[in-house]
Amino acid sequence: MYRDEFPILKNGIIYFDSGATALKPKCMIEATNDYYLNYSANVHRGDYNLSLKVDQMYEGVREKVRHFINAPSKNSIVYTSGATDSINKVVFGFFANILKKDDEVLITEAEHASNILPWFELQDKIGIKVKYIDLDDNHKVTLENVKKAITSNTKVISLASITNVIGDVRPIKEIVSHAHEKGIIVLEDAAQSIAHTKTDVTDTNVDFLTFSAHKMGGPTGIGVLYICDKYLHLVKPIEFGGGMNASFEADGTRVYDEMPHLLEAGTGNIAGVIGLGAIIDFLDNIGLENISKYELQLRNYLINRLKEIKEINIYNENSESAIVAFNYKDIFAQDLAIYLNKYGICVRAGNHCAKILKNAINVKNTCRITLAFYNTCDEIDKLIDVLKNPNIKNELF
Ligand code: ALA
Repeated sequence: MYRDEFPILKNGIIYFDSGATALKPKCMIEATNDYYLNYSANVHRGDYNLSLKVDQMYEGVREKVRHFINAPSKNSIVYTSGATDSINKVVFGFFANILKKDDEVLITEAEHASNILPWFELQDKIGIKVKYIDLDDNHKVTLENVKKAITSNTKVISLASITNVIGDVRPIKEIVSHAHEKGIIVLEDAAQSIAHTKTDVTDTNVDFLTFSAHKMGGPTGIGVLYICDKYLHLVKPIEFGGGMNASFEADGTRVYDEMPHLLEAGTGNIAGVIGLGAIIDFLDNIGLENISKYELQLRNYLINRLKEIKEINIYNENSESAIVAFNYKDIFAQDLAIYLNKYGICVRAGNHCAKILKNAINVKNTCRITLAFYNTCDEIDKLIDVLKNPNIKNELF
């Protein structure tokens, strides 16, 4: 779908790595170019027309984001540099202040580094305990296993809505509902879900939500942290400087801004924000429901075709997202990725920043295909032809 909108596809590549970063449509590129070419002033700092236009655009995108994730207020939308920055801002600006020694944070072995390492840091700093929710036989999170993992010390559940290797879709709404009954706070890492399924923070009632624009087809270096109303005024800044203060004096007295500007010290990524607005318009125009439906069809097609090859081992056949992790018998994942590259096919190989997932799936490295709405069955057929090459092992190097 919409392939003509993606200039890079004219190069003839087959791009199966949208989970790492999504391709950028023309309208998004043009929106950021337009900023640099025609009104590249700073934001919230000038009283001249160009700067006022930037203010309008910048805050207008905040409203677009609010609408996109159905947040109640645009003040709950904080611009960050990406999902990693968003999670760090919550962990160190909020949880570090409210958690105590022996409080437990539940994650899984399938999480991305960005949703593990900040918690490990907090474990070392204040003595919280990072605990793991058991994954089921399909490496998925079930509500039942979440309930089993909860103890009287559990204070936080921090999960990806869709994980970046297994691609399982977590029952976030049910988890939040159960967690809230027990007074547990839930953080949702939506990096892999935001451009593929509808996000509705009002419906799920999640406390914090994080994502990056670049995985939506937006620019790199811009992301979002959503904070629910209950905690909005309890998250403290971890960076200080211009743009987040109302006044300060030589004696150290100072008044900081209200949210969301309180967490946005320094000049923001203005072109990034404008690109984020453009990609939201683009995705909204296609419709997240249409995207989900099409990508699921593609996924099923890919799984069925991969299963024609007896040497292929799929690790997440029963997941429901556009992510497929696999290996080819006796070929190292990275070697297979390099082989596919010879045919213009881009996949990711390795541990995909999910470095403890190996404990659950018993393999360290996989090849990963992450599909997007601009992929086609025809591209999958080309992949299968290349994988069926009887000389594949001779062509590896
Ligand atoms: N987090 C990105 C991925 O999974 C980079 O590939």
